[in-house]
Amino acid sequence: MKILGIETSCDETAAAVVEDGTRVLSSVISSQIAKHALFGGVVPELAAREHLAAIDPVVSAALAEGGCTVADLGAVAVTHSPGLVPALLVGTAYAKGLAATGGVPLLGVNHFLAHVYGALLERPDVCREPARFPLLAVVVSGGHTALLLIRADGTTALVGRTLDDAAGEAFDKAAKILDLGYPGGPLIDRIAQRGDPGRVRFPRGLVGGSGRAVRAEDHLNFSFSGLKTALYYHVRDRVLADAELADVVASYQAAIVDVLVLKSRWAAEESGAATVVLCGGVACNSALRRAMAEHLGGGGRELIVAPPRYCTDNAAMVAGLAWHELRLGAAPDPDVIVGARLPEDLGRVPFAPQYASGTNVWSSLGGRT
Ligand code: KG4
Ligand code: ZN
Repeated sequence: MKILGIETSCDETAAAVVEDGTRVLSSVISSQIAKHALFGGVVPELAAREHLAAIDPVVSAALAEGGCTVADLGAVAVTHSPGLVPALLVGTAYAKGLAATGGVPLLGVNHFLAHVYGALLERPDVCREPARFPLLAVVVSGGHTALLLIRADGTTALVGRTLDDAAGEAFDKAAKILDLGYPGGPLIDRIAQRGDPGRVRFPRGLVGGSGRAVRAEDHLNFSFSGLKTALYYHVRDRVLADAELADVVASYQAAIVDVLVLKSRWAAEESGAATVVLCGGVACNSALRRAMAEHLGGGGRELIVAPPRYCTDNAAMVAGLAWHELRLGAAPDPDVIVGARLPEDLGRVPFAPQYASGTNVWSSLGGRT
Protein backbone atom coordinates (compact mmCIF):
# COMPACT_ATOMS: atom_id res chain seq x y z
CA MET A 1 0.00 0.00 0.00
CA LYS A 2 1.29 3.44 -0.96
CA ILE A 3 0.79 6.21 1.57
CA LEU A 4 1.32 9.93 1.02
CA GLY A 5 2.78 11.57 4.14
CA ILE A 6 2.49 15.30 4.79
CA GLU A 7 4.53 17.15 7.43
CA THR A 8 4.19 20.83 8.41
CA SER A 9 4.73 20.87 12.19
CA CYS A 10 7.57 23.40 12.22
CA ASP A 11 9.65 25.07 9.49
CA GLU A 12 9.86 22.30 6.89
CA THR A 13 7.12 21.63 4.37
CA ALA A 14 7.54 17.97 3.48
CA ALA A 15 5.71 15.27 1.54
CA ALA A 16 6.68 11.69 0.77
CA VAL A 17 5.28 8.54 -0.76
CA VAL A 18 6.17 5.37 1.13
CA GLU A 19 5.10 1.87 0.18
CA ASP A 20 4.30 -0.72 2.85
CA GLY A 21 5.94 1.30 5.61
CA THR A 22 9.52 1.00 4.40
CA ARG A 23 10.00 1.61 0.68
CA VAL A 24 10.52 5.35 0.31
CA LEU A 25 9.45 6.16 -3.27
CA SER A 26 9.90 9.91 -2.80
CA SER A 27 10.72 12.36 -0.02
CA VAL A 28 10.51 16.06 -0.81
CA ILE A 29 11.43 18.73 1.74
CA SER A 30 11.15 22.48 1.33
CA SER A 31 12.94 24.32 4.12
CA GLN A 32 11.98 27.78 5.33
CA ILE A 33 15.24 28.23 7.23
CA ALA A 34 16.34 31.28 5.23
CA LYS A 35 13.08 33.11 6.08
CA HIS A 36 13.30 32.44 9.83
CA ALA A 37 17.05 33.12 9.99
CA LEU A 38 16.27 36.85 9.87
CA PHE A 39 14.54 36.48 13.25
CA GLY A 40 16.97 34.01 14.86
CA GLY A 41 14.20 31.43 15.37
CA VAL A 42 10.96 30.06 13.95
CA VAL A 43 8.08 32.56 13.78
CA PRO A 44 4.86 30.46 13.84
CA GLU A 45 2.76 32.89 11.78
CA LEU A 46 5.44 33.21 9.12
CA ALA A 47 5.85 29.41 9.08
CA ALA A 48 2.14 28.98 8.36
CA ARG A 49 2.25 31.41 5.44
CA GLU A 50 5.33 29.72 4.00
CA HIS A 51 3.68 26.28 4.32
CA LEU A 52 0.67 27.66 2.48
CA ALA A 53 2.85 28.70 -0.46
CA ALA A 54 4.90 25.50 -0.53
CA ILE A 55 2.46 22.72 0.24
CA ASP A 56 0.88 22.24 -3.17
CA PRO A 57 4.16 22.18 -5.17
CA VAL A 58 5.80 19.93 -2.53
CA VAL A 59 2.95 17.39 -2.57
CA SER A 60 2.82 17.46 -6.38
CA ALA A 61 6.57 16.83 -6.56
CA ALA A 62 6.34 13.95 -4.06
CA LEU A 63 3.55 12.30 -6.05
CA ALA A 64 5.39 12.80 -9.37
CA GLU A 65 8.72 11.51 -8.01
CA GLY A 66 6.89 8.60 -6.41
CA GLY A 67 5.42 7.79 -9.83
CA CYS A 68 1.81 7.94 -8.66
CA THR A 69 -1.36 9.98 -8.50
CA VAL A 70 -3.85 10.39 -5.65
CA ALA A 71 -5.85 7.49 -7.14
CA ASP A 72 -2.93 5.11 -6.44
CA LEU A 73 -2.79 5.97 -2.74
CA GLY A 74 -4.08 3.69 0.00
CA ALA A 75 -4.13 6.61 2.44
CA VAL A 76 -3.02 10.15 3.17
CA ALA A 77 -1.21 10.61 6.50
CA VAL A 78 -0.57 13.98 8.10
CA THR A 79 1.23 15.17 11.24
CA HIS A 80 -1.43 16.37 13.70
CA SER A 81 0.68 17.03 16.84
CA PRO A 82 2.81 18.11 18.58
CA GLY A 83 4.01 21.24 16.83
CA LEU A 84 3.24 24.86 16.01
CA VAL A 85 -0.54 25.07 15.72
CA PRO A 86 -0.67 27.59 12.82
CA ALA A 87 1.80 25.42 10.89
CA LEU A 88 -0.03 22.15 11.66
CA LEU A 89 -3.32 23.70 10.53
CA VAL A 90 -1.99 24.24 7.01
CA GLY A 91 -0.85 20.63 6.57
CA THR A 92 -3.98 19.10 8.06
CA ALA A 93 -6.35 21.37 6.10
CA TYR A 94 -4.55 20.53 2.86
CA ALA A 95 -4.53 16.80 3.67
CA LYS A 96 -8.24 16.84 4.50
CA GLY A 97 -9.04 18.47 1.16
CA LEU A 98 -6.82 16.10 -0.81
CA ALA A 99 -8.17 12.99 0.92
CA ALA A 100 -11.80 14.09 0.60
CA THR A 101 -11.60 14.98 -3.09
CA GLY A 102 -9.59 11.86 -3.92
CA GLY A 103 -11.79 9.55 -1.86
CA VAL A 104 -8.75 8.33 0.08
CA PRO A 105 -8.71 7.55 3.86
CA LEU A 106 -6.99 10.16 6.04
CA LEU A 107 -4.96 9.43 9.15
CA GLY A 108 -3.36 11.81 11.68
CA VAL A 109 0.09 10.93 12.98
CA ASN A 110 2.06 11.94 16.07
CA HIS A 111 5.24 13.78 15.04
CA PHE A 112 7.26 12.63 18.06
CA LEU A 113 6.57 8.95 17.36
CA ALA A 114 7.22 9.57 13.67
CA HIS A 115 10.75 10.72 14.58
CA VAL A 116 11.29 7.40 16.37
CA TYR A 117 9.99 5.47 13.38
CA GLY A 118 12.26 7.54 11.09
CA ALA A 119 15.23 5.74 12.65
CA LEU A 120 13.63 2.37 11.83
CA LEU A 121 12.50 3.09 8.26
CA GLU A 122 15.53 1.23 6.95
CA ARG A 123 15.53 -1.30 9.81
CA PRO A 124 12.23 -3.20 9.53
CA ASP A 125 14.00 -6.23 11.03
CA VAL A 126 13.95 -4.51 14.46
CA CYS A 127 10.17 -4.03 14.34
CA ARG A 128 9.64 -7.77 13.79
CA GLU A 129 11.86 -9.12 16.52
CA PRO A 130 10.64 -9.18 20.15
CA ALA A 131 14.20 -9.81 21.37
CA ARG A 132 15.17 -6.29 20.17
CA PHE A 133 12.87 -4.85 22.83
CA PRO A 134 12.57 -3.03 25.16
CA LEU A 135 13.71 -0.27 22.86
CA LEU A 136 14.81 3.05 24.29
CA ALA A 137 14.19 5.98 21.95
CA VAL A 138 16.31 9.08 22.58
CA VAL A 139 14.38 11.82 20.79
CA VAL A 140 16.36 15.04 20.51
CA SER A 141 15.02 17.79 18.27
CA GLY A 142 14.21 21.48 18.21
CA GLY A 143 10.92 20.82 19.98
CA HIS A 144 11.64 17.76 22.13
CA THR A 145 14.17 16.07 24.31
CA ALA A 146 12.79 12.89 25.76
CA LEU A 147 13.52 9.26 26.57
CA LEU A 148 10.73 6.90 25.51
CA LEU A 149 10.78 3.26 26.49
CA ILE A 150 8.92 1.00 24.05
CA ARG A 151 8.16 -2.59 25.03
CA ALA A 152 7.64 -5.50 22.62
CA ASP A 153 3.86 -5.25 23.03
CA GLY A 154 3.97 -1.58 21.99
CA THR A 155 3.27 -0.12 25.43
CA THR A 156 5.33 2.95 26.18
CA ALA A 157 6.68 4.91 29.12
CA LEU A 158 8.04 8.43 28.86
CA VAL A 159 10.87 7.87 31.33
CA GLY A 160 12.58 11.24 30.88
CA ARG A 161 11.91 14.62 29.31
CA THR A 162 13.17 18.16 29.41
CA LEU A 163 11.74 20.45 32.05
CA ASP A 164 12.45 23.57 29.98
CA ASP A 165 14.31 23.92 26.65
CA ALA A 166 14.81 21.10 24.16
CA ALA A 167 18.39 20.21 23.20
CA GLY A 168 17.87 21.73 19.73
CA GLU A 169 16.62 24.92 21.35
CA ALA A 170 19.75 24.98 23.51
CA PHE A 171 21.83 24.90 20.32
CA ASP A 172 19.66 27.47 18.53
CA LYS A 173 19.54 29.91 21.48
CA ALA A 174 23.30 29.67 22.01
CA ALA A 175 23.83 30.55 18.36
CA LYS A 176 21.56 33.53 18.85
CA ILE A 177 23.51 34.69 21.95
CA LEU A 178 26.76 34.31 20.00
CA ASP A 179 25.28 35.87 16.87
CA LEU A 180 26.20 32.88 14.71
CA GLY A 181 22.98 32.49 12.72
CA TYR A 182 20.05 30.07 12.57
CA PRO A 183 19.62 27.15 13.03
CA GLY A 184 22.36 26.92 15.62
CA GLY A 185 22.86 23.16 15.71
CA PRO A 186 24.72 22.64 12.42
CA LEU A 187 26.73 25.89 12.91
CA ILE A 188 27.83 24.98 16.43
CA ASP A 189 28.60 21.41 15.32
CA ARG A 190 30.98 22.80 12.68
CA ILE A 191 32.68 25.48 14.81
CA ALA A 192 33.08 23.07 17.77
CA GLN A 193 35.30 20.83 15.66
CA ARG A 194 38.06 23.47 15.96
CA GLY A 195 37.64 23.99 19.70
CA ASP A 196 38.65 22.46 23.04
CA PRO A 197 35.56 20.98 24.76
CA GLY A 198 37.37 21.03 28.13
CA ARG A 199 38.15 24.76 28.12
CA VAL A 200 35.02 26.02 29.90
CA ARG A 201 33.20 23.90 32.49
CA PHE A 202 29.55 24.65 31.72
CA PRO A 203 26.89 23.18 34.06
CA ARG A 204 25.44 19.73 33.38
CA GLY A 205 21.73 20.16 34.03
CA LEU A 206 20.02 17.81 36.55
CA VAL A 207 23.05 15.57 36.88
CA GLY A 208 23.80 16.31 40.53
CA GLY A 209 27.43 17.39 40.47
CA SER A 210 29.43 18.70 43.47
CA GLY A 211 27.38 16.90 46.08
CA ARG A 212 24.01 18.27 44.97
CA ALA A 213 21.34 15.59 44.91
CA VAL A 214 18.86 15.57 42.08
CA ARG A 215 15.27 14.79 43.01
CA ALA A 216 14.49 11.14 42.27
CA GLU A 217 11.77 12.12 39.79
CA ASP A 218 14.32 14.19 37.81
CA HIS A 219 16.89 11.39 37.60
CA LEU A 220 16.19 10.91 33.87
CA ASN A 221 14.87 14.41 33.13
CA PHE A 222 16.78 17.17 31.37
CA SER A 223 17.18 20.91 31.84
CA PHE A 224 19.09 23.16 29.46
CA SER A 225 17.96 26.65 30.46
CA GLY A 226 20.68 27.05 33.14
CA LEU A 227 23.30 26.13 30.58
CA LYS A 228 22.02 28.81 28.23
CA THR A 229 22.15 31.38 31.05
CA ALA A 230 25.71 30.30 31.95
CA LEU A 231 26.76 30.89 28.35
CA TYR A 232 25.06 34.27 28.33
CA TYR A 233 27.01 35.44 31.41
CA HIS A 234 30.23 33.88 30.18
CA VAL A 235 30.29 35.89 26.97
CA ARG A 236 28.36 39.02 28.06
CA ASP A 237 30.01 42.29 27.04
CA ARG A 238 32.94 40.49 25.47
CA VAL A 239 34.16 40.05 21.94
CA LEU A 240 35.57 36.57 21.50
CA ALA A 241 38.54 35.95 19.25
CA ASP A 242 38.08 33.13 16.78
CA ALA A 243 40.01 30.50 18.76
CA GLU A 244 38.23 31.34 22.01
CA LEU A 245 34.85 31.26 20.30
CA ALA A 246 35.60 27.74 19.08
CA ASP A 247 36.57 26.67 22.61
CA VAL A 248 33.44 28.18 24.15
CA VAL A 249 31.22 26.58 21.52
CA ALA A 250 32.92 23.19 21.87
CA SER A 251 32.57 23.37 25.67
CA TYR A 252 28.91 24.32 25.40
CA GLN A 253 28.22 21.48 22.97
CA ALA A 254 30.04 19.06 25.30
CA ALA A 255 27.73 20.04 28.17
CA ILE A 256 24.68 19.10 26.06
CA VAL A 257 26.22 15.90 24.69
CA ASP A 258 27.48 14.72 28.10
CA VAL A 259 24.05 14.94 29.70
CA LEU A 260 22.26 13.33 26.77
CA VAL A 261 24.70 10.42 26.74
CA LEU A 262 24.79 10.00 30.52
CA LYS A 263 21.01 9.94 30.99
CA SER A 264 20.48 7.75 27.91
CA ARG A 265 22.96 5.28 29.38
CA TRP A 266 21.28 5.29 32.78
CA ALA A 267 17.88 4.75 31.15
CA ALA A 268 19.20 1.96 28.91
CA GLU A 269 20.86 0.15 31.82
CA GLU A 270 17.96 0.57 34.22
CA SER A 271 15.38 -0.61 31.70
CA GLY A 272 17.47 -3.42 30.22
CA ALA A 273 16.98 -1.96 26.74
CA ALA A 274 18.08 -4.30 23.94
CA THR A 275 18.07 -1.45 21.40
CA VAL A 276 18.70 2.27 21.71
CA VAL A 277 17.45 4.54 18.94
CA LEU A 278 18.83 8.06 18.50
CA CYS A 279 16.59 10.32 16.42
CA GLY A 280 15.39 13.90 15.82
CA GLY A 281 17.28 16.84 14.31
CA VAL A 282 19.96 16.98 17.03
CA ALA A 283 20.84 13.35 16.22
CA CYS A 284 22.71 14.89 13.23
CA ASN A 285 25.26 16.27 15.69
CA SER A 286 28.63 14.67 15.02
CA ALA A 287 29.87 14.81 18.64
CA LEU A 288 26.63 13.28 19.91
CA ARG A 289 26.75 10.49 17.32
CA ARG A 290 30.34 9.71 18.30
CA ALA A 291 29.69 9.77 22.05
CA MET A 292 26.53 7.67 21.76
CA ALA A 293 28.42 5.08 19.69
CA GLU A 294 31.13 4.98 22.35
CA HIS A 295 28.87 4.70 25.40
CA LEU A 296 25.54 3.20 24.32
CA GLY A 297 26.31 0.39 21.89
CA GLY A 298 27.90 -2.97 22.66
CA GLY A 299 27.32 -5.46 25.45
CA GLY A 300 24.40 -7.10 23.65
CA ARG A 301 22.70 -3.74 23.09
CA GLU A 302 22.41 -2.27 19.62
CA LEU A 303 22.55 1.46 18.96
CA ILE A 304 20.62 2.61 15.91
CA VAL A 305 21.27 6.19 14.84
CA ALA A 306 18.77 7.59 12.35
CA PRO A 307 20.25 8.40 8.93
CA PRO A 308 20.66 12.21 8.75
CA ARG A 309 17.92 12.55 6.09
CA TYR A 310 15.43 10.99 8.55
CA CYS A 311 16.73 12.88 11.61
CA THR A 312 15.42 16.32 10.72
CA ASP A 313 11.78 16.82 9.79
CA ASN A 314 10.60 14.78 6.81
CA ALA A 315 7.37 13.13 5.67
CA ALA A 316 8.71 9.62 5.00
CA MET A 317 8.65 8.97 8.75
CA VAL A 318 5.01 10.15 8.84
CA ALA A 319 3.86 7.92 5.95
CA GLY A 320 5.83 4.96 7.35
CA LEU A 321 4.32 5.22 10.81
CA ALA A 322 0.81 5.57 9.34
CA TRP A 323 1.23 2.28 7.46
CA HIS A 324 1.77 0.48 10.76
CA GLU A 325 -1.33 2.15 12.22
CA LEU A 326 -3.42 1.00 9.27
CA ARG A 327 -1.89 -2.48 9.34
CA LEU A 328 -3.29 -2.80 12.85
CA GLY A 329 -6.71 -1.57 11.77
CA ALA A 330 -6.66 2.10 12.81
CA ALA A 331 -9.86 3.84 11.74
CA PRO A 332 -9.43 6.68 9.23
CA ASP A 333 -10.02 10.12 10.74
CA PRO A 334 -11.35 12.65 8.22
CA ASP A 335 -11.62 15.28 11.00
CA VAL A 336 -7.99 15.20 12.21
CA ILE A 337 -7.52 17.74 15.04
CA VAL A 338 -4.20 19.48 15.67
CA GLY A 339 -2.43 19.81 19.04
CA ALA A 340 0.60 21.71 20.30
CA ARG A 341 1.84 19.51 23.11
CA LEU A 342 3.34 16.11 23.66
CA PRO A 343 0.96 14.09 25.85
CA GLU A 344 2.36 12.41 28.97
CA ASP A 345 0.88 9.10 27.80
CA LEU A 346 1.82 8.24 24.23
CA GLY A 347 -0.30 5.08 24.22
CA ARG A 348 0.97 2.08 22.26
CA VAL A 349 3.23 2.30 19.24
CA PRO A 350 2.05 0.31 16.22
CA PHE A 351 5.47 -0.80 14.99
CA ALA A 352 6.22 -3.06 17.97
CA PRO A 353 6.30 -6.81 17.17
CA GLN A 354 3.84 -8.08 19.77
CA TYR A 355 1.26 -5.31 19.59
CA ALA A 356 -1.71 -7.60 19.02
CA SER A 357 -2.36 -9.43 22.32
CA GLY A 358 1.08 -10.92 22.63
CA THR A 359 1.16 -12.46 19.16
CA ASN A 360 3.67 -11.46 16.56
CA VAL A 361 1.52 -9.68 13.96
CA TRP A 362 4.32 -9.96 11.45
CA SER A 363 3.97 -13.75 11.40
CA SER A 364 0.28 -13.45 10.58
CA LEU A 365 1.16 -11.21 7.62
CA GLY A 366 3.42 -13.96 6.32
CA GLY A 367 6.48 -11.74 6.68
CA ARG A 368 5.22 -9.33 4.04
CA THR A 369 6.51 -5.77 4.33
O1 KG4 B 1 13.73 17.39 14.15
P1 KG4 B 1 13.88 18.80 13.70
O2 KG4 B 1 14.09 19.06 12.23
O3 KG4 B 1 12.65 19.67 14.10
C1 KG4 B 1 11.90 19.51 15.24
O4 KG4 B 1 11.01 18.61 15.26
O5 KG4 B 1 12.17 20.26 16.20
O6 KG4 B 1 15.09 19.41 14.56
C2 KG4 B 1 15.59 20.69 14.33
C3 KG4 B 1 16.66 20.96 15.38
C4 KG4 B 1 17.14 22.40 15.40
O7 KG4 B 1 17.11 22.87 16.72
C5 KG4 B 1 18.59 22.29 14.90
O8 KG4 B 1 19.46 23.26 15.44
C6 KG4 B 1 18.97 20.90 15.36
O9 KG4 B 1 17.80 20.13 15.14
N1 KG4 B 1 20.09 20.35 14.60
C7 KG4 B 1 21.31 20.10 15.16
C8 KG4 B 1 22.15 19.67 14.10
N2 KG4 B 1 21.42 19.64 12.95
C9 KG4 B 1 20.16 20.06 13.28
N3 KG4 B 1 21.73 20.24 16.42
C10 KG4 B 1 23.03 19.93 16.68
N4 KG4 B 1 23.90 19.53 15.72
C11 KG4 B 1 23.51 19.37 14.44
N5 KG4 B 1 24.39 18.98 13.51
ZN1 ZN C 1 10.67 17.21 14.27
